Amino acid sequence: MENEYEKEADVKSTLITGGAGFIGANYVRRRLQSGDSKVVVLDALTYAGNGASLEGLDDERLTFVHGDIRDSDLVERLLREWECDCVIHFAAESHVDRSISGPDAFIQTNVNGTHALLLAAKRVWLAGEGRPHRFHHVSTDEVYGTLGPGDHPFRETNQYEPNSPYSASKAGSDHLVRAYHHTYGLEVTTTNCSNNYGPYQFPEKLIPLMIVNILLGRNLPVYGDGMQIRDWLYVDDHCAAIDLALERGVSGEVYNIGGDNERPNIEIVKRICEAVEVRFAKDDELKSRFPEGPISRGGAAEDLITYVEDRPGHDRRYAIDFSKAKRDLGYEPTWDFDQGLAATIDWYLQMEPWWRAVMDGTYRDWLELNYAGRSGRG
Ligand code: NAD
Ligand code: DAU
Repeated sequence: MENEYEKEADVKSTLITGGAGFIGANYVRRRLQSGDSKVVVLDALTYAGNGASLEGLDDERLTFVHGDIRDSDLVERLLREWECDCVIHFAAESHVDRSISGPDAFIQTNVNGTHALLLAAKRVWLAGEGRPHRFHHVSTDEVYGTLGPGDHPFRETNQYEPNSPYSASKAGSDHLVRAYHHTYGLEVTTTNCSNNYGPYQFPEKLIPLMIVNILLGRNLPVYGDGMQIRDWLYVDDHCAAIDLALERGVSGEVYNIGGDNERPNIEIVKRICEAVEVRFAKDDELKSRFPEGPISRGGAAEDLITYVEDRPGHDRRYAIDFSKAKRDLGYEPTWDFDQGLAATIDWYLQMEPWWRAVMDGTYRDWLELNYAGRSGRG
């Protein structure tokens, strides 16, 4: 089957939801570096959104709109005004721990928000004779539930068995995307990806939290026995997979994306400790920059490891079978884990002001300082 989106579309603008978040910001950067398409970012700048993650980008081709994906009239207006023929939907509440303490926002954004976007896309793209379009939905491997030690990695055909309010809300959004394709003919693709790491990740997630805590001399909390397994993927590889799904993906299809890189959490934490120590050994200046950390005081980063109470309902193992994406999209992860981890640690060392502003809360002033009530930037 031919890819109608590629064949017919004269790509105008792409609406990227959640473009000020971790993966969204990495994707926007990639998109603006390659090719000449225009990008409209729609982001509500929740605690996880950070305007500073988009700084230094080509203002001519980037428009930032501060708004909520649940506002389908706003989305409809943006799709028409900017002649968007593509939506890449990243916006979500994304942190499992927060979904346990406060599930409501997850249902609001992930389920209702996704539905509001689909509704707006249907109104604009399917009116009259319709026009070439694509709605790409960015989802997660967590919708498939958890694996036992000997189980085959998740295939696209696995039954959905979400275990946390987060994964249940993402599962709901996946089903809505599927239903809009089957019922109304909306052209959609979905990628279900494993754990990402890399620059601009909010330091509540495992890898950036551990890096920042080592630098600040804070405990490294390991949930339960630390033997839960995740399949880690460098964020650039995920972004590349999304581009491949847009270029070569068939409407209505789902593609699992992973890193072939399963590791228990405790191994990740210990490797981060080791890699940060290697960096300190190479650069004496780091000791004076981060005097609170154990390495600066002659200790070991691993001394900070603290086993804490497990996450309720904690999924034991995720792993991805990405043979469909490999066969149909030509997808393959390109970043080796040591290389990706070193690049990530270097980024957090270089971008100290970015994460310091997150830690002290001043990153939330970005809107007022840079945007001052305007309806767009660009
Ligand atoms: P993130 O939490 O870093 O960013 C989410 C972004 O969405 C933020 O900029 C936030 O301001 C915005 N947002 C939240 N609610 C909004 C709303 N109602 N309207 C508009 N914007 C809103 O998330 P992330 O880690 O970058 O994840 C992006 C997407 O990828 C999510 O859909 C997530 O489920 C999926 N995903 C993430 C991973 C991962 O490892 N991080 C892996 C697989 C899939
Ligand atoms: O699998 C994809 C998912 O990966 C995405 O859909 C989610 O948006 C993303 O947040 C991530 O979910 P996880 O729950 O796997 O990521 P997190 O970084 O929160 O945790 C990774 C593992 O590390 C998990 O087993 C819990 C554990 N953990 C986490 C934190 C924050 C700890 O042991 N200590 C911690 O302090």
